[in-house]
Amino acid sequence: MSDLLQPIFTNWQPEHTRDWGQAPISLSHSLHKHTLFSFDALAELIDNYPREHYALVHMGAQGSARRTWREGDIGGLKGQQVIEAIRSGRMWLNLRNIGRVDGRYAEMLDQMFIEIRDNVGGYETYGRTSGILISSPNAQVYYHMDLPGQSLAQIHGKKRVYVYPNTAPFLTPEQLESIALYEVEVDVPYEPWYDRHAKVFEIEGGEMLHWPLNAPHRVENLDCLNVSMTTEYWTEDIRRNQMINMANGILRQKAGLAPKSRATSGPGFWAKAALQAGVRRTGLLKQMRKAKRPIEFKLDGARPGGIVELQQAAE
Ligand SMILES: [Fe+2]
Repeated sequence: MSDLLQPIFTNWQPEHTRDWGQAPISLSHSLHKHTLFSFDALAELIDNYPREHYALVHMGAQGSARRTWREGDIGGLKGQQVIEAIRSGRMWLNLRNIGRVDGRYAEMLDQMFIEIRDNVGGYETYGRTSGILISSPNAQVYYHMDLPGQSLAQIHGKKRVYVYPNTAPFLTPEQLESIALYEVEVDVPYEPWYDRHAKVFEIEGGEMLHWPLNAPHRVENLDCLNVSMTTEYWTEDIRRNQMINMANGILRQKAGLAPKSRATSGPGFWAKAALQAGVRRTGLLKQMRKAKRPIEFKLDGARPGGIVELQQAAE
């Protein structure tokens, strides 16, 4: 994979360095031209993708009031057929953790983070994972936020991304704490008027978005097949924020206190670090976190874009 080593970020400007993590930004990248992201390469990747590392999700129509989110299986279809099914249906396939499944992508991700580190002045990251998201025309991802640092690189197709402030009422401390404790990232309340406060991007292949930590966002595909790459990572600062969220959540929900401080250093922080570590060790959180979603359908080999209900879904 030594043929990559063109810069991934093709037009990094001083304002991108200034705004990194402070405001939503759009960066130019070259990944959409790389052979690893051609449809042939993606089809081959799907052919061999381990079951435990992908999620296939069927979604509701844009604007529908009810949130539907059902998980399925590619049902033995070849990668090319899976891509055609997604092109004709309303679903998305997340090839999670591509770096772990295929070393060529890991090498590419390493390069990406070296460029980010160099551009953002020693921005050290760890626990990096990346997924390729292949999604149907007009598919949507509901309003939600994520706990790690994040970016979204568009590879093929076009999508509209709404990024909201990471403060109340768009995201309250209570919601952030609950998400940190229970890992239910999709359950943040959304109101249509929030859109007036969103920064809205329409991105196509060659553009990458980055936004401040925990900023809520939602995505609407335009009327075309979409391929994107999502990247998640941790920094020491993000890790400390997560510890504070968990500790404040425990204090609020289990001790009835209203924590005010979000300091990520000093004696208060270390007391909270110890508190959340203690609760983690008891295994209590695991019990409280939601179970995995069942696999309810598989792709229909005879009808591109169609699905077949699986028996156990009726239980
Ligand atoms: Fe997200």
